[in-house]
Amino acid sequence: MAEELIVLTGLSKPVAYARAREAIERLLEGIEDEIAAMATISSVLHYGFGFLWTGFYRLVTPTLLRIGPYQGTVGCLDIAVGRGVCGQAGASGRTVIVPDVREFPGHITCDARSRSEIVVPVFGSTGQVIAVLDIDSQELSTFDANDQEGLESIVKWFAQHRS
Ligand code: SME
Repeated sequence: MAEELIVLTGLSKPVAYARAREAIERLLEGIEDEIAAMATISSVLHYGFGFLWTGFYRLVTPTLLRIGPYQGTVGCLDIAVGRGVCGQAGASGRTVIVPDVREFPGHITCDARSRSEIVVPVFGSTGQVIAVLDIDSQELSTFDANDQEGLESIVKWFAQHRS
């Protein structure tokens, strides 16, 4: 496959997320493999938008999120369900948007440059949380309802197409 850079900057967020999803579906066509999918989704979003950190934490026991495929500096390996932004999204099953990580009680700092964050839960076939998608930005207030909608659509597609 030829080298490919999917540029998502300079577009409205709804258009950018539609392009991201098209690229992800095209790249993963015929491949039902959740590691390949998590890695590809992380790369498309990370380099497309220019985020600071983009990746998945997987629910490996009912109380533990463990790092999965990601792009960025070394992430915290384990996060207890309920702790930090990831743990709260995992525990509640709801997307959490943090405009300023310094204002979020219990925020877990993996990269000190992180200023804002969004964490989106991924649901399995019976509706249980199986993972979260965590994205960090170097800018304050990067994420809004458009990001939530775009990312929830991508993780829903992922949940339906993993092995
Ligand atoms: N900021 C996260 C921790 C994970 S790192 O950002 C990769 C949190 O508080 O859940």
